[in-house]
Amino acid sequence: MSTTTSVSSTPSTNAELMARRRAALPAGLGQTHEIFVQHADNAEVWDVEGQRYLDFAGGISVLNSGHRHPAVVAAVQAQLAHYTHTCFQVLAYEPYVALAEKLNARAPGAAAEGEQRIHWKSFFMTTGAEAVENAIKIARAATGRPGVIAFGGGFHGRTLMGLALTGKVSPYKKSFGPFPAEVYHAPFPSPRHGVSIEDSLYAIEHLFKADIEPSRVAAILLEPVQGEGGFHIAPIEWVQRLRQICDQHGILLIADEVQTCAGRTGRWLACEHWYEHAGIAPDLITMAKSMAGGMPISAVLGRSALMDAPAPGGLGGTYAGNPLA
Ligand SMILES: Cc1ncc(COP(=O)(O)O)c(C=O)c1O
Repeated sequence: MSTTTSVSSTPSTNAELMARRRAALPAGLGQTHEIFVQHADNAEVWDVEGQRYLDFAGGISVLNSGHRHPAVVAAVQAQLAHYTHTCFQVLAYEPYVALAEKLNARAPGAAAEGEQRIHWKSFFMTTGAEAVENAIKIARAATGRPGVIAFGGGFHGRTLMGLALTGKVSPYKKSFGPFPAEVYHAPFPSPRHGVSIEDSLYAIEHLFKADIEPSRVAAILLEPVQGEGGFHIAPIEWVQRLRQICDQHGILLIADEVQTCAGRTGRWLACEHWYEHAGIAPDLITMAKSMAGGMPISAVLGRSALMDAPAPGGLGGTYAGNPLA
């Protein structure tokens, strides 16, 4: 029997590894830099040739706390000594519940008194796209309606529903359709692109006239700050008007905070700014990326009455909310 040498034990140059990558991997997996990492620490990365870099990418907004933060490494190591996987729906574990409690307590309105208090519930998936998919599932189950309105330039993941919601054809949606039905797009306000708040709201009213009646719309989905779309901040006056439209028609407002969560806008969640400045909160929130400092986990948070709409078994996944993450 012939023996094979472990490929990873052979020192290589970036150019050699790029050649192997091209031969072994499909072209659809883009590569921004022709560099292969050897190790990383906090904000620094060293490639296989020993070259040192400052990492401004952070794994696409995943490493707000840097590479291998000591607290993250210690938590993963401690967990490894106990159990790595059980599938939460089959055999539950306390840290899952503790994390949900922690996130629920930090969501907008959770600490308010009396009728103002919002009771949040959360559960976990693995990727941002899965969190978005599940927020839509919950919105549809809770409202009994099919429609979703998203925005031009928005990015919501690479699954088919994520792509349906994404408002950018090239390179994400090109050649992958057809996508799930009942998804509509309106323009996101952007002075840079000459789109005013009124333009965006007019487009939504137009959708209600031309494409779908508001009573069939389950949710309006937006990023508090568009990431892939070019870093456009959702103006607070626009979010207030969206909240009004939602309240008027029984539509749910979903904040996709996959990229904006974990302190990226100066608050744990970007929608905390909405709550502080205008007293408004979304109905559902998605989180992922930096919430776990480099470990793969995502979350869906929602007002408790909505979160209980799907029947038992309707939510979850084999690895969703993995203990190591
Ligand atoms: C706002 C937003 N939603 C969803 C996603 C998809 O997340 P993932 O790549 O983890 O599936 C992204 C990823 O960039 C994102 O920025």
